[in-house]
Amino acid sequence: MSNHLIKLADLDRDAIRELLHLTDRFVEVSQRPIPKVPALRGRTIAMVFFEDSTRTRMSFDLAAKRLSADVIDFPTHTSSLSKGESLQDTVETIAALGVDALVIRHASSGLPGEIAEAVGETISVINAGDGLNAHPTQGLLDAYTLCQHFHGAAGIEASLSGIHVGIVGDVKHSRVARSDLAVYRSLGAKVTIVAPPELQPTDLDNWPVDITDDLDEVLPSLDVVGLLRIQKERMGQTVVNSIDDYIERYGVTESRANRMNDNLVILHPGPVNRGIEIADTVLDKRPNVLINQQVTNGVAVRMAVLFRLLGSGIEID
Ligand code: CP
Repeated sequence: MSNHLIKLADLDRDAIRELLHLTDRFVEVSQRPIPKVPALRGRTIAMVFFEDSTRTRMSFDLAAKRLSADVIDFPTHTSSLSKGESLQDTVETIAALGVDALVIRHASSGLPGEIAEAVGETISVINAGDGLNAHPTQGLLDAYTLCQHFHGAAGIEASLSGIHVGIVGDVKHSRVARSDLAVYRSLGAKVTIVAPPELQPTDLDNWPVDITDDLDEVLPSLDVVGLLRIQKERMGQTVVNSIDDYIERYGVTESRANRMNDNLVILHPGPVNRGIEIADTVLDKRPNVLINQQVTNGVAVRMAVLFRLLGSGIEID
């Protein structure tokens, strides 16, 4: 693994497993009365979020602080970028300040990778979501949550062999789908994309998976339904013909939930459009809706990533 994390397709199975095993250790740290270790004392991590975020930003922040790193927020709206400074000069300035890692979210697909190439080994770049491209820590936390659910947490078995995952919804606009697909397949899961034709990716040759537009047909064979958010901000209003039609065909409505096996696991990266991807009552009452567990695990996953990139030779404690 290099000193950057840009997309999960860059990692082989061993590197992914190593991160999931490290996550297991940080889950244990997170359950201690004082969930903090000194591992990254003296290191500084900058949060550079050009797009809104609740979960990713707060959990990277918490992860860094639980590792005793210093955290600084890059003020994307009030920085010298507004005076015309280039992003490259801005990044060089941040590096010159002595920052060890950048956690960056940006609407432009590929930007974190370009920054990583520009900075080389001087500073670690961690992609917190870039356009439609990748959201690697979301993929890792989704995979960890499934491994934990199916195999138990202690000494986690980092495998999804024999598990059939349906990734359901707006796959075309989803960086989460791309990262989930990479990690699920690396861990041996069978993956089926379930989306209306207008929300299926156009580059299907790069998606070595089954694809269907019929959720009800594939549902009985699924162990996991990974719902995706309908991203109104990334699509023209006319892309989905009717939200009511979408809910009828792809939403986890109460009536569809009643037809599901109780063991079926439901994931969603958040934020949820309640009443669209999933009905309120299902979200709040159904067993095996692991959305809050995904958020909780996100902190330990991000501790693992930060520790792996910045904690070389250091004991976790
Ligand atoms: N899942 C996710 O990326 O959520 P946020 O946009 O709130 O970070």
